Amino acid sequence: MMEKKVYIETYGCQMNVNDSEVVLSILQDEGYSLTENIEEATLILANTCSIRDNAEQRIWGRIDQFRLQKRTRPEVIIGILGCMAERLKEKLLTKVDLVAGPDSYRSLPSLLRAIAPERPQINVLLSHEETYADIKPVRMDKNGVSAFISIMRGCNNVCSYCVVPYTRGAERSRDPFTIVNEAKDLWSRGYKEVTLLGQNVDSYHWIDKETGKHSTNFAQLLEMVAKISPDLRVRFSTSHPKDISDEVIYTMAMYGNICRHIHLPVQSGSSIMLEKMRRKYNREWYLERVAKIRSVIPDCGITTDVIAGFSGETEQDHQDTLTLMEKVVFDSAFMFAYSERPGTLASKKYPDDIPYEVKTKRLNEIIELQGKMSLKSNEKEIGKTVKVLVEGPSKKNPAELCGRASNNKMCVFPSKGEKAGDYCEVEVVSVTSATLICKRIESYI
Ligand code: 5AD
Ligand code: SF4
Repeated sequence: MMEKKVYIETYGCQMNVNDSEVVLSILQDEGYSLTENIEEATLILANTCSIRDNAEQRIWGRIDQFRLQKRTRPEVIIGILGCMAERLKEKLLTKVDLVAGPDSYRSLPSLLRAIAPERPQINVLLSHEETYADIKPVRMDKNGVSAFISIMRGCNNVCSYCVVPYTRGAERSRDPFTIVNEAKDLWSRGYKEVTLLGQNVDSYHWIDKETGKHSTNFAQLLEMVAKISPDLRVRFSTSHPKDISDEVIYTMAMYGNICRHIHLPVQSGSSIMLEKMRRKYNREWYLERVAKIRSVIPDCGITTDVIAGFSGETEQDHQDTLTLMEKVVFDSAFMFAYSERPGTLASKKYPDDIPYEVKTKRLNEIIELQGKMSLKSNEKEIGKTVKVLVEGPSKKNPAELCGRASNNKMCVFPSKGEKAGDYCEVEVVSVTSATLICKRIESYI
């Protein structure tokens, strides 16, 4: 029988990276092994993203390239997983053999068995329960240091611009004991860092089904994972400004191994835009949360997401975003031009009325300002000693190592032969807007 080999490309967020690992686990049980060479794959998968139109356009282009494989090997199966599968459903079936949404990965073996010429298969049912809690993801990272753990799925917020509630369904939390066991297992296999993932980790909530009483919130879950070992770094993403609690901030402060970094997407600095975006907080609330974080954890890195040119955004709204960015001085940011997504509340209620040139101009101003803010925040690190988890040799100079400080800033420094997964204490000597350049701390002995 022909050897079954799967090739997987992953697009979009960290959650998708972890989902691909769940998919690989399910497929391995079916006899598939992973290949990085598309030409020897019998199954070609793309785990896709729908967040902005350009993400989808890129994937349509890839599908055409995947189909070239069929010219010489017509038996190759091409499948689309993830958010784009969920959003476009049957529309993808003219181009591929398999379409599976984010909650249907357990059915992949039966779907694959049912595929025949002219008989593509689809499952895009969303679930209220599926968390893949019992599936042990097969890690696809290269260095065995850092891994993602999904703690919940779906999203119950209805940010008016966002497609995710429609592609990933309702929010559900995963049993905390399965999460802790997964983290323990990773630790015992030499991993040094876990990132707990959810669309909105602050609304993590688990109620023990048997007693109906004992419940776990995100702060408690964080503590349970942090207690595994002081040498296991714990990160998490994404926090929602409306939900991040003082309890979470104090829990971070109590455990040195919970990394000093919060990704806190602001989206806009204008309260008028925030209201229209249905973010359920305003500018003042956001600034108060930042002030609280910094009063409890002064060295906490804060990063964000910003959208330029949402419906009806005036020049004043845009200026409000810029002044907020100047006030907060984010360590880094992901910055996007608004892209209208079919089916969202905004697409029904608010016209996408900011001309392309205006959106681009505003986005460029945001990017330029963030460059200055990143540099400013990095300059504050000069002279500090930081503990870095080594990721491997620096890409630019193999005689140097790179890795992240607790606050998520990328550091480079001369190697003394350490390997990925080792901790190094180094001193920051100079910076760019993207990197801390460090020297070794000489010991006196
Ligand atoms: N257009 C542009 N950016 C978007 N994001 C989400 N939806 C859209 C959209 N329709 C951004 C938000 C979010 C990040 C993951 O992607 O900033 O936090
Ligand atoms: Fe992730 Fe959102 Fe893209 Fe889906 S649409 S892959 S949830 S970023």
